Amino acid sequence: MRRPLVAGNWKLNGSRAANVSLLRSIRTGLPADWHCDVMVCPPFVYLADARAALDGSSILLGAQDTSAEDAGAYTGDVAARMLRDVGCTHVIVGHSERRHLRGESDTLVARKFRAVRSAGLQPILCVGETLEERQGSATEHVVARQLGAVLDDIAVEEVASSIIAYEPVWAIGTGHTATPEQAQDVHARIRAIVAARDARIAAELRILYGGSVKSSNAAGLFAMPDIDGGLVGGASLDAAEFVRICGAAARNA
Ligand code: 13P
Repeated sequence: MRRPLVAGNWKLNGSRAANVSLLRSIRTGLPADWHCDVMVCPPFVYLADARAALDGSSILLGAQDTSAEDAGAYTGDVAARMLRDVGCTHVIVGHSERRHLRGESDTLVARKFRAVRSAGLQPILCVGETLEERQGSATEHVVARQLGAVLDDIAVEEVASSIIAYEPVWAIGTGHTATPEQAQDVHARIRAIVAARDARIAAELRILYGGSVKSSNAAGLFAMPDIDGGLVGGASLDAAEFVRICGAAARNA
């Protein structure tokens, strides 16, 4: 049985004061016996503060990205081992904003995935097609290519406790959510690609949906058999809304 997970990707948002208040509201909003994993992913500079604010809570802490390098002359980079040092358990790699706005290649994403695993952390690997690619019927091809770049680079066992997030680029921050059926189709495909390498690992793999998830559409998405929760952007900055989305995932547990 896959435990649902809702992760809030704060992207380039927040301040010390706003984060304290947001985390306090999320903590008080979530009941103690929550049947869902909950995670927040603040910007790098706020991770240590967030860890302190989450002390005593089971809310998980993730980072939004990492360097593929471990140490050395890489000005501006943050290594996965540093993220572990400040209390992260998870790291997002290959988010479409990194791929498309920062030019990250499949190869670099695969190196980052490996760096996260080497640091003893769990990667959240994002995959997803652009609108043009969907309209050109290339969704399966793009997702298979992005996933294949990682799977070809590591032993399949390394995927065992990792997380995949399907985030169609056309649905991110646009208000245009994929329908539950559209998302389910791609999630099933992702699981099949992993199953071709190891059926047991594929059956246990958590695959999140991301792209304009809100409390009004979360229940429909999370009810689908291969959707194990959400990677939530904008709605994760509103504590009440985020808690409602977590509630939708918990009800489907
Ligand atoms: P939105 O929920 O704002 O569409 O963002 C989704 C996302 O990119 C999460 O990583």
